[in-house]
Amino acid sequence: MNTVLAVHGSPRGERSHTRRLAEVFLQAWQTANPQGHLTRREVGRGHLPHVSEAFIAAAFYPQPEARPLSMQADLALSDELVAELLGHSRLVIAAPMHNFSVPSGIKAWVDHIVRLGLTFNTLQDSGVAQYQPLVQGKKVLIVTSRGGGGFGPGGEHEAMNHADRWLRTALGFIGIENVTVVAAEGEESESEGFQRSCAEAQQRLLALAQTF
Ligand SMILES: Cc1cc2nc3c(=O)[nH]c(=O)nc-3n(C[C@H](O)[C@H](O)[C@H](O)COP(=O)(O)O)c2cc1C
Repeated sequence: MNTVLAVHGSPRGERSHTRRLAEVFLQAWQTANPQGHLTRREVGRGHLPHVSEAFIAAAFYPQPEARPLSMQADLALSDELVAELLGHSRLVIAAPMHNFSVPSGIKAWVDHIVRLGLTFNTLQDSGVAQYQPLVQGKKVLIVTSRGGGGFGPGGEHEAMNHADRWLRTALGFIGIENVTVVAAEGEESESEGFQRSCAEAQQRLLALAQTF
């Protein structure tokens, strides 16, 4: 049975379009998979700490199996987030575009789950670091919303999209390659175009929920 971890990154609550679209998908998925387990992780409205010096020292400690207790404590939240990710077969990330990238809560979450020895490894080959992804078998849906338009594949602003495209790169680094993006565009333009974009996104999400 598939399990879904839904990560919500918008700082907005009821006014959030990514939150609303993701919930449309999640409800349809839950109806199609009544036994399926769903977990929600809030990173947009709760405070997720940024990576700190203590975190870096602990995460890259040369002998992870002998980490001092204080270092283990510095990694406790990260350990929890990694275990949560690994404990689900499916991932839904609701991530609006903020300044051509993702909101800082999503960035912080990624910084916590890209972990040496847990989700990727480094191999030394003739002194040159090679990276080995450790996560397998996950499927990801990214639900995004953008104030402007043309950020999708082939769009005039595609090169300025460092949001879902960056997420693909970071997830691919740890081994998650099966990623689908559903976007609504034009929230800051005339409302009819955005409503049409949302309706199209919603149709895609309802269809995807049947096979996710
Ligand atoms: C801080 C901030 C930065 C934003 N930066 C961009 C941007 O770079 N490009 C864009 O098209 N829209 C941008 N927007 C608009 C959001 O992408 C848009 O409002 C989206 O619907 C927000 O998602 P949400 O409704 O789930 O919060 C920005 C909004 C905020 C609040």
